[in-house]
Amino acid sequence: MSSSPLNVVILAAGQGSRMKSQLPKVLHPLGGRPLVSHVINTARSLNPQRIVVVYGHGGEQVPQALDSDDLTWVKQEEQNGTGHAVAQAIPELDDESTVLVLYGDVPLTQEKTLADLCRDGNDALGLLTVHLEEPKGYGRIVRDSHACVTRIVEEKDADEATRQINEVNTGILAVNAGKLRGWLSQLNNNNAQGEYYLTDIIAMAVADGVDVKTSHPENEEEVLGINSRSQLAFLERYYQQQQAEALMAEGVTVIDPARLDIRGEVNISRDVILDINVVLVGKVEIGEGVYIGPGCVIKDSVIADGVQIQPMSVIEQARVGEDSLIGPFARLRPGANLAASTHVGNFVEIKNSEVGAGSKINHLSYVGDSTIGQRVNIGAGTITCNYDGAYKHRTIIGDDAFIGSDTQLVAPVKVGAGATIGAGTTVTADVPSDELAISRVKQKTISGWKRPTKNK
Ligand code: UD1
Ligand code: CA
Repeated sequence: MSSSPLNVVILAAGQGSRMKSQLPKVLHPLGGRPLVSHVINTARSLNPQRIVVVYGHGGEQVPQALDSDDLTWVKQEEQNGTGHAVAQAIPELDDESTVLVLYGDVPLTQEKTLADLCRDGNDALGLLTVHLEEPKGYGRIVRDSHACVTRIVEEKDADEATRQINEVNTGILAVNAGKLRGWLSQLNNNNAQGEYYLTDIIAMAVADGVDVKTSHPENEEEVLGINSRSQLAFLERYYQQQQAEALMAEGVTVIDPARLDIRGEVNISRDVILDINVVLVGKVEIGEGVYIGPGCVIKDSVIADGVQIQPMSVIEQARVGEDSLIGPFARLRPGANLAASTHVGNFVEIKNSEVGAGSKINHLSYVGDSTIGQRVNIGAGTITCNYDGAYKHRTIIGDDAFIGSDTQLVAPVKVGAGATIGAGTTVTADVPSDELAISRVKQKTISGWKRPTKNK
């Protein structure tokens, strides 16, 4: 690596008209994050002295959408071409530095590819090129009889022979900032698009005796840009496949890599099984030996070792203790904090509640704003009535309590340890430990009673 500092310029001012969107193109998500934030993160991994982002179309939406403490924002008021865009960033750059130009709509370039490109970036001009079977639309790399690069010709300015060249410009390049400043000042827009082309600096570099060194990415997908929603979907699948491969290499079983979606940062231990159509969002941690069934959506949560999550469960901002059994059709909402070996069954919703070890809530219940002890059994159809129309109140249930089916717990209320609530009870007052509370109407038989019938 050259010893000169690295300055990164990310071009993100273009409109992306083919996206047909209100949202600026570079803010469309890939793997749950804006396209340009992938580029920014890769840039950060190169430890640059500064990162300058050139924005324009979509106005302040772009800087506002990104966490930007370490970014310098430069507005390109009119999009007059890639050369014009880089020229806007020049005042922010250190003349001694190597400048790496990246595109905000090319999200998946690897750190290694860029590090290689920048290696001689202060003496030579590093140019990332790729051979494409279908080079249409790209700038073509023109070489002389010694195979040295002489210039880049844009598709719209190319003659038939030049269009046959299938080595294309990715747009990504690295060069000394001082030299770049000089060349950009000489650009003109005498071309088919009436734009200031960054690519015209290649011929200027050659004329100045600067060596143009090409390098290539390991995979073509690293340099694919997004211009349409179809290309976005293609790269999304590629990115998801890569993430699935990385997990499998670390000892995770992915039942079908084409049916896993990770939209965030996950930390998944060995011998986890991810069944089909699992979606993981945000920060998700999954411990050893966990099974996640088909159709589960898990967001910003921690799932401890040995947990089994049956199909179609939705878990958000929750914590599931080890060896617990969840689902099918369970919903854990923010603040659900389950200790070890809990059971949460079908059509159970838990929000903002602590559930102690070994407790079971197996069927059709709502538990909100509650503290539930250990080994508690919550019968089918139990509801914590936590909301009085204005305020939320807590329900507290002690260890080993037994809550009969179809109980309503009208909060604030406490059920003591070891207490039993008879089925169908509406609990409106605290229940002492080890006692039975029941509010059921005593059953009677009304002999000879007849159901009403319709008049003919
Ligand atoms: C550019 C290259 C072409 C290359 C291709 C790779 C030029 C002249 N051509 O063509 O050789 O093969 O990329 O994808 O450089 N942008 C701005 N401001 C502008 C214009 C563009 O910020 O005024 C940004 C866009 O948002 C985009 C990038 O620069 O991120 C590339 O612009 P685009 O118009 O897509 O360039 P191409 O015509 O595809
Ligand atoms: Ca493009």
